[in-house]
Parts: sequence; C-alpha cells; structure tokens
Amino acid sequence: MLPTPKFTALDDALYAYLLEHRSPDDDVVRELREETAKLGDWAVMQIAPDQATFLRLLVTLTGARCAVEVGTFTGLSSLAIARGLPADGRLLCLDVSEEWTSVARRAWKKAGVEGRIELRIAPAADSLRALPLEPQFDFAFIDADKKSYLVYFEEILKRLRPGGLIAVDNVLWEGDVVRPEEQGEDVVAIRRFNEAVRADRRVESVMLAIADGLTLARKLP
Ligand SMILES: C[S@@+](CC[C@H](N)C(=O)[O-])C[C@H]1O[C@@H](n2cnc3c(N)ncnc32)[C@H](O)[C@@H]1O
Repeated sequence: MLPTPKFTALDDALYAYLLEHRSPDDDVVRELREETAKLGDWAVMQIAPDQATFLRLLVTLTGARCAVEVGTFTGLSSLAIARGLPADGRLLCLDVSEEWTSVARRAWKKAGVEGRIELRIAPAADSLRALPLEPQFDFAFIDADKKSYLVYFEEILKRLRPGGLIAVDNVLWEGDVVRPEEQGEDVVAIRRFNEAVRADRRVESVMLAIADGLTLARKLP
C-alpha cells in the first residue's frame, strides 16, 4: 500500500514563494540566468534556481574537495558546485560545447572561482575513461545526454571515494517515467538508469522531487 503522499504540489504562486524564500541570488547568477535566457529554447537546459542553491549547500555540507560535473552548458550548476567547494577545491567540468561553456567561463571569472575549475571539451565518456582509475572525487553532478547516464554513473562511481555523492538531474523527465505510452529515447534511458540505481548495492540512493527530479546516490564504504 502506498503511504499517504507528504509532498505539497507546486503551482506558479507557490513555486515563486519557494524561490523567494531561499538565500538570494547574487549579480553573477542573475546575469548568468539573463544571458542564458537569450539563448531561447536552449535555456530550458539550465538547472532551476532552487536546485542551484541546493547543489551549493550539498557540496558544502558533504565537505567535498574534489568534484566532477558532466554537462556544464552555460555554467549555473558548475558555479554553484565551485562555490560550495573550499578555496583550494577542484571541479572538473566536462562538455562538448565551446560556445555554451564560453558563457560559463565568463561567469566563473566574475565569481572569482575560475581557479578551482578545469574544463575539458570532449565527449564526457572519453574524458572520464581517460582519468586514472582511482578514488579521486567526493562529489559528482550528472546532467548531460540522457542515453549515456549509466556510462557516466559507472565511470564516476569507479573514481568516487567511499562515502562520496553523485547527484543526477532529470530523473523524473517531467513525469514521463510513469507514463508507459511515452517511449522516446530519453525517457527510456532515464527509466533504465533509475532501475539500475535502484538495484545497485554499491550505493544508497534517494530520488528527490526538486525541479525535474534529482537522484542522490552515496557510495557505500
Ligand atoms: C542540460 S545541459 C547542462 C546544464 C547545466 N548543468 C546547467 O546548470 O546549466 C546538458 C549539457 O550536456 C552537454 N553534452 C551533451 N552531450 C554530451 C556529451 N556526450 N559529452 C559531454 N557533454 C555533453 C551539452 O553540450 C550541454 O551543455
């Protein structure tokens, strides 16, 4: 039997209220959101404002020093992660787009975190496989092409320290994960990914109903 739902469904007014009642965004984030909005339909790829705040908190709370991000786009999530790291922390960003990540580079510079970030432009699976096969990351964020989520998860898990955390975006795919008539490539890949994480005894995981769904998976010691 399903437990009584404890969540509060968000309408526009409640979501606006939620956004207003978190630590305010600074000028760097505001300008980055404005610049990204000018990209039109592509802008939807940017993580949600509350998700950015949450990512930053999460990185700080986990005490992460070394992080990796798959899917940087114009930089909002990387900015949040980098700001959650200590001053000598390191974030490796992986993406295929010089154009979109040039916007990210400018934001990192404005925020004074560019020294913590290394960006590699190449298919992320290749960049991950080229890394030494040893525990090096404390935190990871996956938000790139959905068909490769399982590959990213596997390659990162091999390089994650015990107790490290992987956060994965879009795991609800706007609710399509529970609509069997939806059989597009992305939702099928997301369903497959969600099932694999559920069955994976190397991690403990939870799926959060923030933005388009965020899975947190902690590598068991
Ligand atoms: C949803 S966006 C990431 C949004 C970003 N996390 C943010 O907060 O703005 C997905 C990104 O993945 C990148 N991408 C797509 N396929 C990729 C691949 N095979 N390897 C690396 N990056 C890829 C795209 O260029 C795009 O910038």
